[in-house]
Amino acid sequence: MLEKHEKIEKSSVLLLIFSIIVISIGGLVEIVPLFRIETTIEKVSGMRPLTPLELTGEQIYIRENCTACHSQQIRPLRDEVERYGHYSLAAESMYEHPFLWGSKRTGPDLARVGGKYSDEWHTAHLTRPRDVVPESIMPSYSFMKNHGVDLLDIKNLMKAYRTVGVPYTDDMIENAYNDAMAQAHADSDPSGLNARYGKKVNVRDFDGQKNFVSEMDALVAYLQTLGTLADIKDYDINLNEKDASGSK
Ligand code: HEC
Repeated sequence: MLEKHEKIEKSSVLLLIFSIIVISIGGLVEIVPLFRIETTIEKVSGMRPLTPLELTGEQIYIRENCTACHSQQIRPLRDEVERYGHYSLAAESMYEHPFLWGSKRTGPDLARVGGKYSDEWHTAHLTRPRDVVPESIMPSYSFMKNHGVDLLDIKNLMKAYRTVGVPYTDDMIENAYNDAMAQAHADSDPSGLNARYGKKVNVRDFDGQKNFVSEMDALVAYLQTLGTLADIKDYDINLNEKDASGSK
């Protein structure tokens, strides 16, 4: 046995081949069950595609690489759950392309930052972080207030998202520009927007500048959705029921 082993160890090709076989078996054992376990593919109610304005905000988040300092995934560990709230569910990222989970936390996790602060707070913070958090090392993004939001390509962007599985309808794509404008004006008629994306959509003047839809509007609209779409309470009730019936 040892002699045979020596043969393998002395030949780099054999060693490589057997290593690959062993690692493949280990990989399969770890990965295959994930496709079967119910909790990894659990559906939660409430998930919807981002509205055109929020989607534009997400593109700004990607462009500015906020992911370099912020993660968007709360791990199921006690300290994280106590600090940030319920751990992130796979379904919450189902319409996110690319995933913005991140791995670096120079700043706090943002997976559930939606609704935690007011729009004014976000605008002030993004404009001059140290005005609201004196010890902050976050850079200033004040220029966003002066940049009009770019909606020229929003229809193509939504079509692209549709090809990768986000359920944007023709109706949503057709009305993208109007929906974005309606969402950023507090006094607009949001009935079309609500019909397409649901009643819970935030319709506000996010950055406080009337009659000007800026990148700040889009980014804050996006931040305010984070962690608020999925009905986590339903998910927990389902989980507890299963526990009680012993079927889990
Ligand atoms: C250089 C690292 C860095 C970058 C880049 C960065 N941030 Fe931050 N961020 C921080 C730090 C540090 C904090 C904690 C202090 C504070 O609140 O300002 C923070 C805090 C925040 C908070 C408050 C979170 C909470 O729960 O209190 C939000 C929201 C936020 N950042 C959004 C963003 C967005 C959006 C971007 C991209 C446009 C961004 N950040 C880019 C470092 C960064």
